[in-house]
Amino acid sequence: MNFKQNIRGNVALGVNPLGRKQQVLNHINYIKNKSSYEGPKKVLIIGASSSYGLATRISLAFGAGADTIGISYEKGPKSKRNLGTAGWYNNIAFKEAAEKEGLTAKNFVQDAFSHEIKQEVIEYIKNEFGGKVDLVVYSLASGRRTDPNTGQTYTSSIKAIGDSVVGPNINMQKEDYYTETLEPATEQEIADTVKVMGGEDWELWMEALKEADVLSDGVLTTNYSYLGSELNHPYYGNGTLGRAKADCDIKADAINGLLADINGKAQIVVATAVTTKASSVIPFFPVYCVGLYKVMTEKGTHETPIMHMDRIYRDMIYGENAEYDKEGRLRPDSWELDSDTQAQTKVLIEELNEENFNTDKTAYDLFYKEFSNLSGFMVDNYEDQDVTIEELKALDY
Ligand code: NAI
Repeated sequence: MNFKQNIRGNVALGVNPLGRKQQVLNHINYIKNKSSYEGPKKVLIIGASSSYGLATRISLAFGAGADTIGISYEKGPKSKRNLGTAGWYNNIAFKEAAEKEGLTAKNFVQDAFSHEIKQEVIEYIKNEFGGKVDLVVYSLASGRRTDPNTGQTYTSSIKAIGDSVVGPNINMQKEDYYTETLEPATEQEIADTVKVMGGEDWELWMEALKEADVLSDGVLTTNYSYLGSELNHPYYGNGTLGRAKADCDIKADAINGLLADINGKAQIVVATAVTTKASSVIPFFPVYCVGLYKVMTEKGTHETPIMHMDRIYRDMIYGENAEYDKEGRLRPDSWELDSDTQAQTKVLIEELNEENFNTDKTAYDLFYKEFSNLSGFMVDNYEDQDVTIEELKALDY
């Protein structure tokens, strides 16, 4: 079967399942080539099938020997023209590799926002996963959420707040650099984005897990946030997504109260900007990334999700090098926010135009490669193999 990369705007439609498998193996090898570290042994990851959640799972399983439960919302193959989503194949590749090492790797492919999945996972933890988890990672990114209590569906918007924002953006399908206007959100759109990407579902998860008594004493729960810099505050930090992330800070305080009697902790982790399915569609963000990655690559500080998450868990949370801000958030994004890195990025992106945005002046090629990797294309060590649609359909997650 021939796999064809198919991009619409900055959204990847095609997938190479074998490329995804190779990329998961590349990331596992990255971790296995390092020494092991002491970490949690029973982990639940909500949003486990791609980018940050998957990287977390790989680091904890292959670095710290953790058994993992991964929850995601992905689609399997239906026909040669509809092969499903990259995350579907990531789940399968991860499970196969983890089980080979004798680790438990359970996948739930269901809507994490529902009450039903929470109860199913709780039953699984009680009956088949040793009864308790010691780390709960919340790494969900979604454009929609159905409130499990009311049945109402909310849609998030990536918009500015107050004034509209005008700036350059990149369209990877057309390899085009163009000016985009981001309109300000209405109050309703702000509230809906908080409902989808804020911390409400994280809190519901922690309440359900606590009530069911499946959290071990000293449990930790992490949630990935983004703050960014003045270069992206107008459309991120000060926009609808920034409001949703601020809501996660509030919910972290509530979860800390909830977990106090079992010595548990809710930890906001302010992660660095990386190329993911979710971040590629944030307006203007690709321009920031191609500038930032160029500067960080030259300084030797550019990280992919696997590098970043491994540093967070190995060196910071379960290591000696944690850096917190005065709000108590973990700040691995200090490399991105380094003042010289930001100053150089600002100068660089101010010089960009249609002629030079995709030249050696920037990290466009790297950004495009990382984006392609997400759907299994341009993957290092990949070799073409024959596979049939029947074989793909027979793969079990
Ligand atoms: P992603 O799009 O690569 O992964 C999202 C995950 O959520 C996938 O596993 C997907 O299957 C799962 N998911 C989505 N809807 C679901 C549902 N209804 N039920 C079950 N699973 C569902 O996203 P990415 O970029 O890894 O983001 C994860 C978190 O990291 C987000 O909170 C994001 O804001 C945060 N973050 C991302 C940064 C970036 O530059 N990409 C920077 C800092 C934080």
